[in-house]
Amino acid sequence: MEQTSEPIGIYVFSGTGNTLRCARALETTLTEMGVSVNLHEISDGSETATERDLVLCYPVYGFNMPRILKTFCRNLNGGGNVWFLKTSGEPLHLNDNSSAELIRILKKNGYRIKGEFHYIMPYNMVFRHTDEQASLMWETAKRRIPDAAKRIANGEKTPIREPIPAKIVSALCRIEHWFYPRNGRLFCVDAKKCVGCQKCVKHCPTKNITFENGRFRFGKSCIGCVRCSFNCPTGAIKIGLLDFMRVNGPYDFTRDPTSAKPGRYCRKSYERYFSEK
Ligand SMILES: Cc1cc2nc3c(=O)[nH]c(=O)nc-3n(C[C@H](O)[C@H](O)[C@H](O)COP(=O)(O)O)c2cc1C
Ligand code: SF4
Ligand code: SF4
Repeated sequence: MEQTSEPIGIYVFSGTGNTLRCARALETTLTEMGVSVNLHEISDGSETATERDLVLCYPVYGFNMPRILKTFCRNLNGGGNVWFLKTSGEPLHLNDNSSAELIRILKKNGYRIKGEFHYIMPYNMVFRHTDEQASLMWETAKRRIPDAAKRIANGEKTPIREPIPAKIVSALCRIEHWFYPRNGRLFCVDAKKCVGCQKCVKHCPTKNITFENGRFRFGKSCIGCVRCSFNCPTGAIKIGLLDFMRVNGPYDFTRDPTSAKPGRYCRKSYERYFSEK
């Protein structure tokens, strides 16, 4: 096993907790294997890494990564090994190219790209999975994470798939990075539903929400993470032009996964993912 005494840094950006959940499971597994790891949450991307070898964790947004990860990677210069851990709501290969921009930035900064681990977790946008489906996704991720941990501990290189359709779709969807800050200006709060808990203001990673003189203001730095609307206890936040795809409220991951009924959407791809080792 290629283990160094230097800790591995697990750096996580997670809008609504799915990626953090998987990253924490990886942290626990590596620690149990005797590998020294530090888990850090990325807030706005301005942080720097103190470890040489890194696992960068993020949710897929529009077949790409959150803009914050790009900012984070531009600041890195440690020149060690990098793995990616990503989560997405659908198991389509169109998500395969989402790390491409990060790979380019990191290679330029002297890093060696070692591999990528992709886990399917419930949608926080588009439509709501059932709690049973969410539990099946979580159980599947937990089953697969030890393999990732072994590969990381061994310093093993695993190829990253980059199918041409995924390259085209992710390149086209990069427009979403341009779209999110503009759409963020259209967010609004339904005053009749709001209970004034200020959770949205406190937890926005880019400090994009302010509350002054009894009014909410949404600024220009939204990254589309939906943390505000997903966690609003009363579903009071409308997310602009994407409101028809809004998902509100956390999932219960403790249901019986064997009672998860398959949906019609991408059914074969989900079934393939759940049955893969
Ligand atoms: C703005 C936005 C765009 C998304 N785009 C995709 C996508 O292209 N493909 C996909 O499979 N899931 C997509 N999702 C779903 C998330 O990737 C998925 O729910 C992820 O597990 C959320 O992780 P988090 O809880 O760590 O934020 C998107 C979610 C958001 C908020
Ligand atoms: S999280 Fe929802 S209920 Fe709480 S202050 Fe924000 S909009 Fe109002
Ligand atoms: S306004 Fe909401 S969606 Fe936009 S960055 Fe802040 S928490 Fe995320």
